[in-house]
Parts: sequence; C-alpha cells; structure tokens
Amino acid sequence: MAKILVTGGLGYIGSHTVVSLLETGHEVVIVDNLIHSSEEVLVGIQKITAQTPVFLELDLRDPLAAKQIFDAHPNIEGVIHFAAFKAVGESVEKPLDYYRNNLNALVYLLQACSDYNPAFIFSSSCTVYGQAAELPIRETAPVLQAMSPYGNTKQIGEEILQDVCAAQPDFKVSSLRYFNPIGAHPSALIGELPLGVPQNLVPFITQTGVGKRPHLSVFGKDYPTPDGTCIRDYIHVVDLAEAHIAALNRLLQKKQELAFEVFNVGTGKGSSVLEVITAFEKVSGQSLPYVWAAPRPGDVTAAFAHTQKAEEVLGWRARFSLEEAMASAWAWEQKLLS
Ligand code: UD1
Repeated sequence: MAKILVTGGLGYIGSHTVVSLLETGHEVVIVDNLIHSSEEVLVGIQKITAQTPVFLELDLRDPLAAKQIFDAHPNIEGVIHFAAFKAVGESVEKPLDYYRNNLNALVYLLQACSDYNPAFIFSSSCTVYGQAAELPIRETAPVLQAMSPYGNTKQIGEEILQDVCAAQPDFKVSSLRYFNPIGAHPSALIGELPLGVPQNLVPFITQTGVGKRPHLSVFGKDYPTPDGTCIRDYIHVVDLAEAHIAALNRLLQKKQELAFEVFNVGTGKGSSVLEVITAFEKVSGQSLPYVWAAPRPGDVTAAFAHTQKAEEVLGWRARFSLEEAMASAWAWEQKLLS
C-alpha cells in the first residue's frame, strides 16, 4: 500500500477517488485550494471511511506549492491529478485562467515530481475525440482540434505528459479519458456540488426535480439519433473512482510497459438526453418539466466509449447502470436540501 497525492481531492471525482483509495488501504494526501470545493467534503470522506487523510490547503498555481508537498512527503509513490477547471463555456470567456490553472499548475507539479518519478494519473476527457468518426470510440481514434480552451488544456496536458515521459525514463503516466461522470456515493455523504447554475445535464435535472429550477432545457431535438437528442456515455462516479485505483495499482506494480498510456473510462453504453430524463423520472417517481431549446454550440451528436482496453488491460469495467447512477444523484440532491 502506498502514499498517494490527490490534487483536487475535495472535488467531485477527486473525493470519490479518495474514498476508494482509503478503502483499498492506500494512504492519501489531499491537496485542494477550496475554490470549487469545501472542507465539508473532508467530513463526508471521514464519515464514509472512518479515516482522516492528510489535507493541505494549497493552490498549485503557486509555483512553489507542489515543491512544498514533496518536501513534506518525499515518500509519495503515486499522484492522481484532478485539480483543474472544467466549465467549457467559462473557458471560452477566460482562456488564460484555464491555461494557467490547468497547464501551468501541471508543469509545476511535474517539476516537483521530477526527482521522485511517482506513478501518475491524469484526468483527461473524451472531449479530446470531438465527434469521432466511429462509435463506440476506441483509444486509437484521432484527437481532433479542440472545441474550447478547456478541451485544449486536456489535449495539451496529455502532450506535456508524453514529452516528460520521453525525457524521464522512469516516469510513467496513465491518462484516463472520462466520458460523462454522474451520480454520487451511495451514502449520499459526498457528491457533486455545482457552483451557480449547473452546466451539465444531470445536476440540472436533479435541481429541477427539487424545484430549484423551473424546467430543463433540452438542447436540440433534431440530431441524427433515434430520438433526436444527443447521446453520451454516463458513468457512475463510483465506477470512475474505481478505474483510478485499477490504473494506479497497475502502475505501482510496474505492470505498465509503455511510458504513457490512455484509457477510456466509460460504460460503453450511449444514452440520449430523453433516456436520461426517463431514467430520472423512473427513480424519482415524478415527471420532469422540460422545454426544447436550440442546440448548444460545440455539442457533438454522440459519444460513447469502447471499453475493451480498460477491461482487458486494467481489469476494470463499470458496474452501475444509468438508473442506479440517477438514483444516487437524486438521493444526493435531496440530501442537499436537508
Ligand atoms: C461537457 C463538456 C466536456 C466536459 C464535461 C465536463 C461540452 C461540449 N462538453 O460534456 O468537454 O468534459 O462537460 O463535465 O460542453 N444538455 C441539455 N440541457 C442541459 C445540459 C445539457 O440538453 O441543461 C445536454 C447536452 O446538450 C448534451 C448532454 O445533455 O447532449 C450532456 O451535457 P453535459 O452534461 O453538459 O456534458 P457534455 O456536454 O457531454
């Protein structure tokens, strides 16, 4: 069992991964700047796991922060790097904030690690594929021109990591390309905490379900899909967290031969917006008010993962269905009311 640094460890995916790490016996050092998260999340992690990970409130945009972490914890054997901004629309308005937070911070972190060569997991995104020519999307599909500064930070992040791997022979990286993470821990003690109006579908649905929003706008009804709405691969965040453990353990056990590898992390099943609404209605027992709206610029028609590589190489596959994920998202939203 190893000491693992989790940057952004109080965020949505980070906190679920911290729980999985602690449950599998790893020691965890969380770094978070609390800009999009709160120390309350640490309480949730403690309640679920009965363990208290080290928490350092640091901002990785500070060029010295990452060095401080490794000076204090030179025995860190693995790094899972979640800390990043992720709002596509905001990235168009504030590109430099995104390049600074998602890329400068990555460079500083890599510089601080360079003496230690920890196993390194990067949070990437299926956005790098754009509208792939073939579905389901394999890892070998080409990376297309990014549609937003956010997407570009994920592409450039992967390129930076490949260059560093080439220069540092003992440094190995798994880049996990997430499809659409949804849901919450089954305890409803941790989950997604969107700031302001949610940009993503599922938190918008659950907030509409509790009456915080009058209705959902469904972006586009004439896509070339069976019901006319966009198709995505919605993956339960607990499944996603477990994919990190599989990739990390493979690196720690020196089973990854290539210096840099990418893995799709999805369920392999595509669901349309209307199917997500139906799943919500089923698990919540209430109908969801929605209106049709214009397609959202930059949205691709359909994206879902080919999962063979993750299954064969990582020995990991998603366990939860869309309905189970929606039920957990709904339980979490109701918990937030109390
Ligand atoms: C988006 C980003 C993706 C990023 C991910 C992070 C884009 C184009 N992609 O994924 O790069 O990694 O968030 O979480 O922004 N929808 C509605 N009404 C809503 C919200 C969404 O109909 O109010 C639809 C969208 O058109 C889309 C689907 O729901 O078809 C999923 O949207 P969303 O949850 O925002 O995820 P992505 O756009 O797939």
